[in-house]
Amino acid sequence: MSRAAVKPVPDSTPKGSLDLEDLSLSEGAPVLLRRALSRLAQDDWLEVRGDSSILEENLRTWCRTQGLGYERRAGAPVLHRIQKGSNPAVVVNSPNDIVEVADPAWGLAPRGASIETGGPHFAFTLRRKRDVWANELHNLYKQAAANQWSAARDIPWNELPRLPVDLEEAVCQIMTFLTENEFAALYVPARFIPRIHPHYREVVEVLAMQVADEARHAEAFTRRAQAMGFGLGRTATTGQLSLQTLVEEPDFTTAVFLLCVMGEGTFLSLLRFLQEHAPDPVTSELARLAHRDEARHVAFGTEHLRYVLQTEPEKRSSLAAAVERRSQILASVSGLSPYVHDALVVLAGGGVSIPQIRTGTRLVLELHREMHRSRQERLQSLGFSGEQASELSNYHTKNFM
Ligand SMILES: [Fe+2]
Ligand SMILES: [Fe+2]
Repeated sequence: MSRAAVKPVPDSTPKGSLDLEDLSLSEGAPVLLRRALSRLAQDDWLEVRGDSSILEENLRTWCRTQGLGYERRAGAPVLHRIQKGSNPAVVVNSPNDIVEVADPAWGLAPRGASIETGGPHFAFTLRRKRDVWANELHNLYKQAAANQWSAARDIPWNELPRLPVDLEEAVCQIMTFLTENEFAALYVPARFIPRIHPHYREVVEVLAMQVADEARHAEAFTRRAQAMGFGLGRTATTGQLSLQTLVEEPDFTTAVFLLCVMGEGTFLSLLRFLQEHAPDPVTSELARLAHRDEARHVAFGTEHLRYVLQTEPEKRSSLAAAVERRSQILASVSGLSPYVHDALVVLAGGGVSIPQIRTGTRLVLELHREMHRSRQERLQSLGFSGEQASELSNYHTKNFM
C-alpha cells in the first residue's frame, strides 16, 4: 500500500494526489479519500488514480453524496479529479477548558471535540457552571469507582443467624424504610442527569455513580429483609409524603441541598446507629458499606453548595425557605412513622422486654439528638448562623430523609 499516499505537487492545479491501486470504494477507498481531502484547502483539487474498472461510476456517485466536485480527465491512464466541497460542513471547536456557560449547539460532543454545526438541539437546561458544579469532583468519582461493592459478593450472608422473631421483624421493618428512601435518593439525581449539559461531564459522572450506589443499597436492603423468609414490612403514608416533596423539587441546587446535605446527612447518623446496634453481622456490614457511599453523596452535596454559596451567599435564604416550605407541607406529619420508630427501639434495645424497650427508647432519643447536632454542624460549615442552623435542623422532616 506504499503507493497509496498523498504526494504534494507544485502549486499548479491539483494540490494532492492519491493512488488507490485496485482498492474499490466498498473496500475502504473513502477512508483514504477523506484523509487526502482533509489536507487540502477549500476548492482545491485532488488527483486520483485507480485500477478498478468501476471506479469512475462509484467515485462520481460518492462525490455527489459527499458534496464534492468530480471530473474525469481524458487520456490514459485514467485520471479522476475531486474538488474539495465548496459547501462543506462548518466545524466549531468546543473548548477544552471548563467555561461558565455551555453552548447547547455542542450537543453530546465531548469537551474539546470539534463539532459539525447544524446538529440537533438538546434540552440541557442546566448549562451554567454555577448550576451544577462542585469542588472535588475528580476525587469523589475516583473514590466512588474504587469503592463499588456487591451485595452478592461482599456480604457474609452465610453468617446470618436465626434471630428472635421480634428482632428479625424489626430488622425487616427498618430495611423496608431504608429501601424506600434509597429509591428517593436514586430518582432525584437520575431525573436531573439528562438536564445537565455534558460539558460538565464530571458532575454527570459523579451523579451516575450515586444512582448506581442507591440501586445497590435498595437491592441489598431488600435482600436482607427477605433473607430469613420474613420479607418486607410496612411503609407509612407520612414517609411517602415526605419523600414526594423531595423527589418533586424542581431546582437542582435546592434538591441537592434537601437530599444530600439534609437527608443523606441525617442518614449518616442512622446508618452508623444501625451498624453499631444491628443484631447480626450482615445488617451491620450493610449499614457500614452504605454509610461509606452516603458519606460521598453528602460530600458532593456539601461541595456543590459551597461552590454556589461562595458567589451567591443570598441563596441561603431561598434554601432555608425550601426547608421551611417542606416542613409546612408536612405539617400534618406528626413525626417518624411508628413502624420505623418502634423497630429502631426494638433493634437498639435488643428485644421487647421492659428493660430492653427502656434502653432502646433512650438510644433512639440519643440518635435524634445526634442527627440534630450533626445537621447543625453541617449547616454551619456552609455559612449558616448557629441560630439559622438550629431552626433549619428543627424544620427538617421527622422522617429523616
Ligand atoms: Fe443510599
Ligand atoms: Fe445516597
